[in-house]
Amino acid sequence: MKKLLSLLLAALLLSLALVSCSSGGTTVDDIKKAGTLTIATSPDFPPFESLGEGNQVEGIEIEILEKIAEKFGVTLTIEQMDFDSVIPGINAGKYDLGVSGITVTESRKKNVLFTDPYCLAAQAIVVTAGSPITSKADLTGKTVSVQTGTTAEDYCMGEGYDVKGFAANNDAESALVTGKVDAWVIDDLTAAEMVKAYNAENGEGSLVILDEAMTTEPYAFAMQLGSEGLAAELNKIINEMVSDGTIAAIFEKYEAPYTAPHN
Ligand code: ARG
Repeated sequence: MKKLLSLLLAALLLSLALVSCSSGGTTVDDIKKAGTLTIATSPDFPPFESLGEGNQVEGIEIEILEKIAEKFGVTLTIEQMDFDSVIPGINAGKYDLGVSGITVTESRKKNVLFTDPYCLAAQAIVVTAGSPITSKADLTGKTVSVQTGTTAEDYCMGEGYDVKGFAANNDAESALVTGKVDAWVIDDLTAAEMVKAYNAENGEGSLVILDEAMTTEPYAFAMQLGSEGLAAELNKIINEMVSDGTIAAIFEKYEAPYTAPHN
């Protein structure tokens, strides 16, 4: 009887181990079997991902992912959501890859696995014409808009600013334009793109990006924890695209300055 019990126990433990193996992480096989690579994105972040004509999601990261999907021999499926839902969705295994201008941080590494970074960015300060804020030092005690769940939010909270979070980047911009906040903090390349678009409609110099880069932000793609095999495959492709100039060429197509990561 005792023997039977321990046998049963051993069988139970073995099946538990097998179940936990198969539920931890996404594999290249899963993606190939599905015939599609499903990415989670918040398309309010030009030039990385934004809504183009006919509400198609387009941008630098979408082009990178199209090439990756092609290498895997699968199609690309794009799921849109607010930025602060991307990492929780990847953590829960709802999507294969988080593709959203995501900065690699130590605290995010507890919830998702990152690929190697493919570029570097920084936080920038945006103000309206004639603002008394001319440098980071002037932000002390000021009200700042950010996108919720971003590194801009973390950074500004850490600095002790009065932070107003918005689910969509466009609303963080509107808060500045309508005078609800004194400044808007956002990643530099997206700041450049959104400010250019705003000034084209509202007059040159309506919005101003201060010449002061805060932080260094390596961008990478996020997978469910336990996806080491997939990460290895993706890293091979990404590092090749960095070193053979493919990524730099995509940035150039979007007229965005490219800073390579130090991988
Ligand atoms: N790089 C910043 C972060 O990781 C902002 C990303 C915002 N992305 C977006 N698609 N809205 O927190």
